Amino acid sequence: MTHLLHLDASARTTSVSRRLGAEFVRAWRAAAPEGEYTYRDLSAEPTPFIGAGWTELCDAVLAAGATDLDRLPELATTPAAKQAWRIVEPLLAQLLAADVILIGTPMYNYSIPAALKAWLDQVTFPRMSLGHRRFVVVSARGGAYSPGAPKAAFDYQERYLRDFFAGHFAVTDTVFVHAELANAVQDPNLAHLRAEHESSLAAALTEVTTLAKDYVR
Ligand SMILES: Cc1cc2nc3c(=O)[nH]c(=O)nc-3n(C[C@H](O)[C@H](O)[C@H](O)COP(=O)(O)O)c2cc1C
Repeated sequence: MTHLLHLDASARTTSVSRRLGAEFVRAWRAAAPEGEYTYRDLSAEPTPFIGAGWTELCDAVLAAGATDLDRLPELATTPAAKQAWRIVEPLLAQLLAADVILIGTPMYNYSIPAALKAWLDQVTFPRMSLGHRRFVVVSARGGAYSPGAPKAAFDYQERYLRDFFAGHFAVTDTVFVHAELANAVQDPNLAHLRAEHESSLAAALTEVTTLAKDYVR
């Protein structure tokens, strides 16, 4: 049965990306009642930033030419690297146990929140492949970045994650669903875009409901 790992990265508790992720999970659970589900809120329960010990571990991986993640514990030889491994181990175990990784993320400053980046830094090691795993990213943005939008070229959120998963995890089939123009809800100057936001959100909710059924083995 499929094991879904669900990560949320929004600093907001009432958040659009959280709503999209929750809808994916609702539809996924309905389609796969036997499926295993693990949740982590990266904003409420952040992973620490990597430190010197993590870099010592990573340098040891590079020096050994290691391609097998099982070798990480033996390559953590210094006290700092051992300490870093104690943080990495449960995060990596949680990631490797999953078949599908659902990430709910806002766009922050044209990119991803630091909370999500901190998690990626912890779990990513050189030459690591997550080959058979699949990623789904559900996101919210204050503005509009779809093809043709004036700021489309500023979307370093989807581009970054897409290239990251392909380049570091050898995963090339990541699906992205975005709800756009979310700032129209709070910003009176964007009130004229509220209807457009509502229809973007409605379309995104419909898309994740349908999509979730494709992630049941
Ligand atoms: C720190 C911060 C930075 C943001 N940067 C951007 C941005 O660069 N572009 C954008 O379109 N919206 C930006 N926004 C707006 C968010 O993308 C928008 O509020 C979205 O709904 C956040 O997702 P959430 O509802 O899941 O929290 C930013 C919001 C915050 C709090």
